[in-house]
Amino acid sequence: MKKITTALTALTLAFSASMAMASECDPGEVVAKLSHVTGGTTHPKVVAANSLAERVNKEMNGKLCIEVFPSSTLFGDSKELEALLLGDVQILAPSLSKFGSYTRQYGVFDLPFMFKDMDAAIRFTNSDSGKDLLNAMNDVGFVGLGYWMSGMKYFSGNKALILPTDAEGMKFRVQASDVAKAMIAAMGGSPQPMAFSEVYGALQTGVVDGQENTWSNIYTKKFFEVQNSVTETSHQLLAYLFMTSNEFLDGLEPDVRKQFLQIADDVTQEANQNVKAKELANRENILKAGGTINVLTDEQRAAWVDAMKPVWKQFEKDIGAQLIKTAAGA
Ligand code: SIN
Repeated sequence: MKKITTALTALTLAFSASMAMASECDPGEVVAKLSHVTGGTTHPKVVAANSLAERVNKEMNGKLCIEVFPSSTLFGDSKELEALLLGDVQILAPSLSKFGSYTRQYGVFDLPFMFKDMDAAIRFTNSDSGKDLLNAMNDVGFVGLGYWMSGMKYFSGNKALILPTDAEGMKFRVQASDVAKAMIAAMGGSPQPMAFSEVYGALQTGVVDGQENTWSNIYTKKFFEVQNSVTETSHQLLAYLFMTSNEFLDGLEPDVRKQFLQIADDVTQEANQNVKAKELANRENILKAGGTINVLTDEQRAAWVDAMKPVWKQFEKDIGAQLIKTAAGA
């Protein structure tokens, strides 16, 4: 019984924490719901989303009010983009890997070993090509407000993954991205696209053997608890499109829109300045919590690069050779 009471208390606390940002708007205010799938308190997207809401709700003084719904509590991966078009949510920050049904160009962000580090990715997103990509889905009704970096990605597995050959025959959860699927296939693994909210359970029950993610996602979603170890491959970028809909933005009064866009830009700059420190802190948090991290030698890392590089050619036509060249040169 004590166990049940404790579990119920924990559930109530978690629910209150997740809904904490959702109750601050007064009746009559213009409300924008911001939905996202990540959780915890130290995750870069959680911090950026909460900072946006705090600034808008304070500085815009009732002209606009943002309610934040983290951890897929309002919409998960499969429904959120559709919900934005239907007007059921107004602000999102999905991974750039999740737009395959709307644009092929975002595949450039998924190409393995495209960006040496997040600084290179930020240089690309600040370039003219990167800025143009914010508008790649305007015809659908989506407006890119900015890119929020999340981190480089690392493989975790139910056994140590030191060389790509270690991954042969393993099932890996991937985001809904054709590039990610091709990358896993190039390693001899089997890609299993799955919503983010289902990953912990799938790793725990053995539905999949491994996954790839940032330190912040691996720590805040506790993936390290149900995996043998994480390998520091840095093989791919995870970044988000901080976005809204044309319908929502066009519906704001011009002065309200201007102030919102200025705060959105400030929050984006700040989030990207702080993201590296947050990632490193969550790497440390994994170690402190008893997780294992495999650091690769240069030769071992080169083997991962070799195994995955053929994927670039496969997607050159979809993404565009010039865009790939620009991103690679950033
Ligand atoms: C996210 O960070 O928004 C989720 C990433 C994933 O689906 O792995």
